[in-house]
Amino acid sequence: MVTPTHTTTFKPFFIGDIEISVPIALAPMAGHTNRAFRKLVREIGDCGLVCTEVLSSNTLNNKGTRQKSLEKFPWDSVEEYPMAVQLFGNNPQTVAEAAKIVVDNGAMIVDINMGCWVPKIANKGSGAALLRDVSTARAVVEAVVQAVDVPVTVKVRSGFEDGIVTAIPFAKAAEECGVKAIAVHARFAGQGHQGYVDWEVIRDVKAIVNEMPVIGNGDIITPEDAEEMLTRTGCDGVMVGRGALGRPWIFKQMAHYLRTGEHLPEPPRSEKAAIALRYAELNLQYSSIPDYPTVLQMRKQLGKYNLDEEGSLAIRNQLVRVESITDIETLLKPIIASGV
Ligand SMILES: Cc1cc2nc3c(=O)[nH]c(=O)nc-3n(C[C@H](O)[C@H](O)[C@H](O)COP(=O)(O)O)c2cc1C
Repeated sequence: MVTPTHTTTFKPFFIGDIEISVPIALAPMAGHTNRAFRKLVREIGDCGLVCTEVLSSNTLNNKGTRQKSLEKFPWDSVEEYPMAVQLFGNNPQTVAEAAKIVVDNGAMIVDINMGCWVPKIANKGSGAALLRDVSTARAVVEAVVQAVDVPVTVKVRSGFEDGIVTAIPFAKAAEECGVKAIAVHARFAGQGHQGYVDWEVIRDVKAIVNEMPVIGNGDIITPEDAEEMLTRTGCDGVMVGRGALGRPWIFKQMAHYLRTGEHLPEPPRSEKAAIALRYAELNLQYSSIPDYPTVLQMRKQLGKYNLDEEGSLAIRNQLVRVESITDIETLLKPIIASGV
């Protein structure tokens, strides 16, 4: 039921001919948003768009490493629909070739990473470093748009150097080249993931483009944050990263709030524990590596599920030390069985 005073901010949008029926996307996060986590988010529902972790265009172009990369970062375009596969690289032809490879492997949207600030990527001129120069960034997206017949999107920061906002002229150039959506993490590269998120950049990007949807990103944690960003910047959708870790039900809560102005309750502890267990099972199902290292990789997210009674960290402290699915079940099953 929509509350009588609530003006809904819930509006689907399109990326090319793909309908994004819920205007809330899961942000790509290396080491977190693997196929298991994306599947979990899809099972819970109300996420409009998911995206793979970032894949290296160079690695995909190299026949010796291609298969391993595709196996390490798997996706299922039917089960995860709609989804984007994200690439990084700085050479237009290399990124375009990589785009063809991922499309041949089922990618329905290709996203170009222009947001990554970590030295291993940015020092080589890829990721956010592409935003140092609009014409280089444009050449990359132009080559990709020409190479594939699926929608191409870009994820940018405000700019590379502090205070120099290249997202705005780049957004215009990208739309002219045929890019079908842009996600804006409104921080500069040097800020990493901390500090002020400047929503004005998102608003200005939205104001400069014609039809191309703009997705706002940065510190969206609560349903109110999502609604406020949509309202204040005019963006078409919001993208949630860290706010979804250990809380994959956040999309449902946000979508409900945007639709109705009302809050869904936080899931009870037993339900959260069941979701955490499902996360662990999906990871073991989809992992391309043995169970033990897979479990070690899960620890950082399992520890975020907030399953402890008020004032305690006992469950959390054990979840970040688990070594097997049996350890995980031993901790979670009693909470699930409690039903509260
Ligand atoms: C651990 C981690 C890994 C990330 N990996 C990627 C990535 O692979 N590609 C990308 O475009 N952004 C990546 N990001 C940035 C996020 O997509 C997002 O822009 C950023 O976290 C801000 O959104 P948030 O405040 O909702 O988390 C990553 C962020 C984090 C915290």
